[in-house]
Amino acid sequence: MRILILSRSATLYSTTRLVLAARARGHEVDVADALSFYLCVKRGRPEIYYRGEAPPRYDLIIPRIGASITSYGLAVVRHFEMMGVPCLNGAVAIARSRDKLRAMQLLTKKDIDVPITVCARTPKDLDLMLELVGGTPVIVKLQQGTQGIGVMIAETRQAVSSLLETLWGMGQEIVVQQYIAEAKGRDVRAFVVGGRVVAAMRRSAKAGEFRSNLHRGGAGHRVHLDPVYARAAVAATKVMGLEVAGVDMLESASGPKILEINSSPGLEGIERSTNIDVADKIIQRAERYVERRRKKRSGDAVIEAERRARRIA
Ligand SMILES: Nc1ncnc2c1ncn2[C@@H]1O[C@H](COP(=O)(O)OP(=O)(O)O)[C@@H](O)[C@H]1O
Ligand SMILES: [Mg+2]
Repeated sequence: MRILILSRSATLYSTTRLVLAARARGHEVDVADALSFYLCVKRGRPEIYYRGEAPPRYDLIIPRIGASITSYGLAVVRHFEMMGVPCLNGAVAIARSRDKLRAMQLLTKKDIDVPITVCARTPKDLDLMLELVGGTPVIVKLQQGTQGIGVMIAETRQAVSSLLETLWGMGQEIVVQQYIAEAKGRDVRAFVVGGRVVAAMRRSAKAGEFRSNLHRGGAGHRVHLDPVYARAAVAATKVMGLEVAGVDMLESASGPKILEINSSPGLEGIERSTNIDVADKIIQRAERYVERRRKKRSGDAVIEAERRARRIA
């Protein structure tokens, strides 16, 4: 196959690992920054240009779209999809998971458990908000945050009030969430590929911190995932429509509570903590995904040919 990885830099750990894994399985791989593409929309065929030229015909795109380039990155992925190139993950699925509120709304529709989350735009009913999420302390989150940045804890009503005032004043979209104290600064990251958990780690926050993100100094250790947690992670990924995802879950007294589903999950932490070759699992899944689409297409073509033959007869 000829694979294109959309990534800001070829030297990032995750990108390097995917390139090596793809080459090891005999594929040709290019890495390109989504921001370098020109997209041309016109009647008929959509066109795309990279450094002044039409790029080669790729069999598969692996988008690694960071939060900083979400909007343009998604436009590029969508363009490739319009041109009929399979993308692992697709643009709609990435967009769904990137917005924490949208993701939660979709999850609860499918009866998947999440921390109670309130979205508001006025402080007028602050007491109702606090009551809904079970009182202080509460978690306040930017809807589009990542790597722990934009996740805050507010211990008192006064703190919540001034935090909301500040964030709304800055034009930020936020949600307020029930604080799951029994998680004790730990969470579980399940790496799901093609509807299966291929690796999982428990992350523990450093002392004095409640966020367990590795980017915030947390430490990851391999865990054998309880089947209830594995099922929740797979179900959440399915709802989003993601082929590859990192699902963050809190271990609450009543079982898994899904925090978020990352559509470009980092490989470094999970591979180092678990010693599992996650990059290889992604490439293997990519092969099956492309093959399945090819079969479906040729199946569709046969059905279409039969229809045409019947019309003529
Ligand atoms: N409701 C919550 N209760 C307890 N801890 C939380 C809660 N929400 C988030 N955290 C902690 O903060 C971390 C980051 O939150 P998350 O929603 O995953 O945002 P990000 O996209 O920044 O990783 C989580 O991994 C978890 O350790
Ligand atoms: Mg997270």
